[in-house]
Amino acid sequence: MKYDIRKLRLLSNAEIAQGIFDMRLDYSDNPLPVACGQFAHVYVPGKSLRRPISVCDARDGVLRLVYQVKGEGTRIMSQMQPGAMVDVLAPLGNGFSIDSGKRYALIGGGIGVPPMLYTAAQCDHPLVISGFRNASLVILQDDFRRAGAETLLCTDDGSAGQKGFVTDLLRENISAVDAVCACGPTPMLRAVAAVCAELGKPCQISLEERMACGIGACLVCAVRVRKDGEEIMQHVCKNGPVFNAEEVVFHG
Ligand SMILES: Cc1cc2nc3c(=O)[nH]c(=O)nc-3n(C[C@H](O)[C@H](O)[C@H](O)COP(=O)(O)OP(=O)(O)OC[C@H]3O[C@@H](n4cnc5c(N)ncnc54)[C@H](O)[C@@H]3O)c2cc1C
Ligand code: FES
Repeated sequence: MKYDIRKLRLLSNAEIAQGIFDMRLDYSDNPLPVACGQFAHVYVPGKSLRRPISVCDARDGVLRLVYQVKGEGTRIMSQMQPGAMVDVLAPLGNGFSIDSGKRYALIGGGIGVPPMLYTAAQCDHPLVISGFRNASLVILQDDFRRAGAETLLCTDDGSAGQKGFVTDLLRENISAVDAVCACGPTPMLRAVAAVCAELGKPCQISLEERMACGIGACLVCAVRVRKDGEEIMQHVCKNGPVFNAEEVVFHG
């Protein structure tokens, strides 16, 4: 894993939907290559632990992190002003592996949608299926289309796109793709994994766990995975966040 700590100049930090911010950082100065599905660990002044945020985009010398204000750390991030220097440990983790020649369905739920943008940019005409609670939380749909993706949208309450869940749209369209990548809340990942297992499509999912070091040194982010018939513990930060869906042992 090749990563670096660097101070990156904040270019903009705009609110793009209710409580969701689009942080753009200057990444033009000799950057390490970023793979889709990797994350950045952002230092927040006054906080001892960094905050992990997925890479939303890393094209054209700009590192883009799209995040939702959840607690104190992301609230402080949302108040950072253009020109500030942001301390970022990146790129971290193992991302999605994309085979050229395959068509992918990229499934995002809520704040799991952003990493699918850089992933879409690595794929040939992917099908991006995004799900949100309601219309006020919808983000990035034009960005996906600009990246060459076909987009399908659903909301829980039907206020934008089709009413229902990403798994409904996945079932309706799964014959049009060869493989699936997904990021979002655990119940959504579990449901996407089940649809793919039932219909025989390879599926990679990006997991989220509380993190401390972000580099495999502290064990905070351990998850149970199945390898060669045995259950073992792995680190979401170092071995993931992306895992093959059939390897993941879901809790409960
Ligand atoms: C690999 C990965 C990628 C992520 N990508 C994104 C993204 O692209 N956009 C986005 O909005 N959010 C993302 N998250 C979740 C984001 O890290 C948390 O929402 C954020 O750390 C909350 O910090 P806080 O101080 O605002 O909240 P608090 O709840 O006050 O945080 C307290 C502590 O818990 C940790 N923590 C809280 N919630 C989470 C969580 N869900 N996952 C990991 N650590 C957490 C914080 O880092 C902090 O150390 C990602 C998480 C992981 C693990
Ligand atoms: S966060 Fe420390 S091992 Fe993953």
